Formats: sequence, C-alpha cells, structure tokens
Amino acid sequence: MHVSALQSSQPRVVVALDYAQLDGALSLAQRLDPQSCRVKVGKELFTRAGPGAVEALQHLGFEVFLDLKFHDIPHTVAQAVRAAADLGVWMVNVHAMGGRRMMEAAREALVGSSQRPLLIAVTVLTSMEKQDLHDIGLDGEVDAQVRRLAALARDSGLDGVVCSAREAADLRQLWGDAGVLVTPGIRQPGAPADDQRRTVSAAEALRLGASQLVIGRPITQAPDPQAALERILREMSV
Ligand code: C5P
Repeated sequence: MHVSALQSSQPRVVVALDYAQLDGALSLAQRLDPQSCRVKVGKELFTRAGPGAVEALQHLGFEVFLDLKFHDIPHTVAQAVRAAADLGVWMVNVHAMGGRRMMEAAREALVGSSQRPLLIAVTVLTSMEKQDLHDIGLDGEVDAQVRRLAALARDSGLDGVVCSAREAADLRQLWGDAGVLVTPGIRQPGAPADDQRRTVSAAEALRLGASQLVIGRPITQAPDPQAALERILREMSV
C-alpha cells in the first residue's frame, strides 16, 4: 500500500495508553472518539494484558500503534512483526540499531499482509545523551547518530521513524514527503511538562514536519480527555 495514502488518512494524534492494567486503558479509550485519534499500546500494557489489549481497543473502533520496539536477530524480528500484522495493528516499530538486515527482514515479512501495518524505526532513545553513546562504543554527536540511523531505516525500506519534533525538520528533508515522522514530547503552551524535556506544541510539531503526534498525559490525565484532545486538534488546524 502506498504510504502517502496511509499518511493522509486522518487522524494525526495517537493517544499513549500508558496503563498497567487493561481496565484503565479501556475506560480511558471509551471516553475518546476513535474518529479523532488512534491509540498506542506499549510494553507495560502489552506485557500485562497481551494481544487481548490490542483486540479490545480495536473492538472499540481504534487503530492501534503497537509500540514494542523490536530489536533481535532478523528472523525473530520478522516473525514478531508478522505477528503484529496478524493482530491487525496500524503501526509497529523496531530499533534501527538492529541494523539493515534486521529492518529489511521486518519489511519483507509484511509483504503480502492483507492489512500491512506501517513499519517505523526508533533511532536513538531520547533518554540517551552523548555520554551514553560513548559508553556503548559510539563516539560522536547524538544528532549525527539519529540522522545516520534514520537514513539506514529509509534505505532499508521502512516507512518512517519516531523522532523528537526538534529532529523532525532535518529528518523531513532526509525522508521527503512520504516519510512517516512520529513525534512524542508534545505539550501545549503553559501545560505541565511532566518528565518530558524540550517539549513543543502540537502545531509547532506539525510545522516542523511531524506527521503523527504521540500524546499521553495531556489527554489521559485531563478531566475530560475528549475535550482535551479536541482542544489540541483545534490548535493543530489553525
Ligand atoms: O504522557 P506523554 O505525552 O509524555 O507520553 C508520551 C509517550 O511517548 C509515552 O508513551 C512515551 O513512552 C513515548 N515516548 C516518548 N519519547 C520518546 C519515545 C516515546 O515520550 N522518545
């Protein structure tokens, strides 16, 4: 399937369901309109609740980003990505640090899927700084490593990358219009940053080239999550 077609389909906000239990994730999801957002299932919820979490959310009408950041030998990652496709997820991701052969195997595993998920890569975790890279034997600047891994993901045929909004402008140039740039760390002006550093607003992230915004607590912790989502969507459309 052509990526730009997938990308142009709305919505552009993915709500991060960072819950330990399925009950919490579902009761939040029930307060959101699946026409106005997608949802993200990460490692904690998936490890506790399993594929049933994805299925329950799909049953409520949501498309799911399965954020498990696979990183293993090519065969194992290919099989995991295929299992995600069989679950019918909208998007799945791998670590670009797994290398070209791993990413190519993941991409090839999706050929022929009846519902091919978008396949994106994580470059350098935003928790890592220059010293962390040095500790694992990678000397150089974090930005350069992000760019190098993003180029490798593109050359391996992936659909895009997870990146900070601050990296988005540079990576948009690298990927061109078709690249899917998925950006967390979004906070509206004046809102609490929580544990995020260097946040940007939703409108600014789009301006910088993001195509999908991952937003958690500003929506999940709001008294009225759907109203909070709609406020963000309004800001994005002006
Ligand atoms: O609550 P908040 O909006 O900070 O949630 C952001 C989501 O995006 C969380 O699920 C977090 O794990 C994820 N994420 C991130 N930064 C990255 C990659 C993923 O905040 N670099």
